[in-house]
Amino acid sequence: MVKPVIIVHGGAWGIPDRLVEANLNGVEESVKAGWIVLEAGGSALDAVVAAVNVLEDDPSFDAGIGSGLTEDRTIEMDSLIMDGAKLDAGAVAGLKDVRYPIRLARKVMEETPHVMMIGEGASRIADEFGLERITQEKLVTGEAVREFEEWSEKAVFGDSFGHDTVGAVALDSDGNIATATSTGGVTGKRVGRIGDVPLIGSGGYADNKVGGVSTTGHGESIMKVNLAKLVLTYMNMGMPVQEASEKALGYMKVRVNGQGGLIALDPDGNIGHAFTTKRMVWASIKDGKIETGIETS
Ligand code: GLY
Ligand code: GLY
Repeated sequence: MVKPVIIVHGGAWGIPDRLVEANLNGVEESVKAGWIVLEAGGSALDAVVAAVNVLEDDPSFDAGIGSGLTEDRTIEMDSLIMDGAKLDAGAVAGLKDVRYPIRLARKVMEETPHVMMIGEGASRIADEFGLERITQEKLVTGEAVREFEEWSEKAVFGDSFGHDTVGAVALDSDGNIATATSTGGVTGKRVGRIGDVPLIGSGGYADNKVGGVSTTGHGESIMKVNLAKLVLTYMNMGMPVQEASEKALGYMKVRVNGQGGLIALDPDGNIGHAFTTKRMVWASIKDGKIETGIETS
């Protein structure tokens, strides 16, 4: 029996002071929801979905309710799930009215022969499996509007501003690793823009033989370096998970001047978390002990 471990993140960037307490409470609640599944002998897949659902419902995160707004002040959400046992994956992009995008990503993975679905076809799968719909009015929060207005003045993310994406990586008692990532994307994005999150190897990756990763940060940079897969490439070369996490972010900074963060696990349950933005909120449970963080150590 393997000792289960879970780590979650609630996004990188500046994370304004007004969100710090809610974000720390949110990731704690999320990681506990995932841990309950793992402690009862449940699967890593069920654990990451449970953890991400909490964050999708929490208005202080950029996923589900509370997603960042497009240039038209609308919401378009992306998500990715991956099962490290068989390298199965499911992704959805540009969702406008599904309450839990990560559940739809899982349906794509488990119930269709495909990996990524968008638009009308993704909505059909949501209908087919009775997944809960939600209106744009209910997805848009006051915080998202405020962030949009701040963005309109600056038109760029930075150290004191913005928050992004949620994710979870878990190792279960059978030794399976799963990862889940969900986002409303970057505030002010063009309508129809898809970020890194639904792209396998960018927003996340899981392989029981190497480890699991979920990322956050500047999507256009993350996808260019395949950030999640890059961490696992370094780990495959024998690098410890924390060092691999920092090295991959360093490569993204040097190569494409991109900022971001990530969480990672290896098959022995060692944890990595790193970020090159001002903040990234995260929480982990290992040996029943909870740890949380938001500032650079
Ligand atoms: N290689 C083309 C497709 O699978 O869509
Ligand atoms: N990392 C989230 C996005 O850029 O969409």
